[in-house]
Amino acid sequence: MKLRATSSGPLAGAFPVPGDKSLSHRALIFGAVAEGETVIAGLLESEDVLATAGALRAFGTRVERFGPGRWRVIGGAWRSPEQPIDCGNSGTSVRLLMGAAAGQGVTATFTGDASLTRRPMRRVKAPLEAMGARFDGGDTLPLTVAGPVSRGIAHVNVPASAQVKSAVLLAGLGTNQPVEVAEPVPSRDHTEIMLAEFGAEVERQGTVVRLGARRRLSGRLITVAGDPSSAAFALGAAAIVPESEVTVRDVLLNPHRSGFIMALQRMGADLAMSNIRGQGGETIGDVRVRFGPLFGAEFTAEEIPSMVDEIPILAVVAAGARGETRIEGLDELRHKESDRLALMAEGLTACGVQARAEGDALVVTGGPVRGGATVRTDGDHRIAMSHLVLGLAAEQPVTVEDAEMIATSFPTFREAMREIRGRIEEVAA
Ligand code: S3P
Repeated sequence: MKLRATSSGPLAGAFPVPGDKSLSHRALIFGAVAEGETVIAGLLESEDVLATAGALRAFGTRVERFGPGRWRVIGGAWRSPEQPIDCGNSGTSVRLLMGAAAGQGVTATFTGDASLTRRPMRRVKAPLEAMGARFDGGDTLPLTVAGPVSRGIAHVNVPASAQVKSAVLLAGLGTNQPVEVAEPVPSRDHTEIMLAEFGAEVERQGTVVRLGARRRLSGRLITVAGDPSSAAFALGAAAIVPESEVTVRDVLLNPHRSGFIMALQRMGADLAMSNIRGQGGETIGDVRVRFGPLFGAEFTAEEIPSMVDEIPILAVVAAGARGETRIEGLDELRHKESDRLALMAEGLTACGVQARAEGDALVVTGGPVRGGATVRTDGDHRIAMSHLVLGLAAEQPVTVEDAEMIATSFPTFREAMREIRGRIEEVAA
């Protein structure tokens, strides 16, 4: 399916952001490990999260939907599924579930789509093997993991990956040996926060996360806040489409996820946060962006983990800013759902923007955006949504390929954009 975005008038109103993807995966998985019932409100019902729900059913967990975004999980002992578990496009599903399966002492084969079967799994396999899990297969999917884990670990999480950290901690729930993860550059900490909410003892000392003695989880109520990575498309659009003003309410404002908001502020965006409060150990609030002049900026490698999924939309914002933006330390972007560094440079260039990859940096020079191109996405949802936002600010429409993949993270993207008057339509193949 192809979608086309056309230069809109000002964007305005409240953007209905869906639930956070990272929290949704974790709420389901922790609920399946916990004793008793977990009730989830605001779950993101996207293909990636549904892949996790389906996998948990294959592990013998009762997972039920009882209303929009409202789910119930009855945790307990896991069983080894007979069939391979297909995680589709979802790296979070497969990496977290490998750790959880090892910790639960079951055996499972994992596979995925063309993108996921190309992505690196050695980073999760190596620490789980060190903990005593056994593997069959190479460094990419399909892979079979067999629990239980028998040894502790002191893992150094390089490159900073919240998925790997989460896999180690989930596996660690199945042993009473010392388990710790050190992070020279911190990755998102939702696992630590939510494990504690589920009753586990999680110690955090500087850059080290350690499981304490209490590793049993108890079912609970989890309310999932809005996804800042999805909100970024609306906030970024409002920043570059003249005369816009858009608000996103109840969005997750965890500092390890707020890099894009900080980046917009550094580029001079007219941005305000309000109604900031706590929810389930996380920080949430409302964000409002008004169109105004933006200026190019430099971003360093240490800043990337706090906006790792937002680099494509940051590159689009940079196209609407005055001067040059340089984003360093993007090697990890080559290992996401696509080679995001190469595809952003290619797509922006096709739309008449000066953009280039320089080693592991992306350099974008802002100015009027011509648009008028069809952009290759290699089936990557965030590449598609980012270029559609570019189309809302371009002189001529921008078309993206493989747009059905947007449903992996943001199935309501088009309706949500329509709500703030963004013009995005399906075009005949
Ligand atoms: C995620 C962690 C990030 C991010 C992904 C979701 C998570 O990957 O890109 O979309 O929920 O833990 P890393 O493992 O590279 O941190």
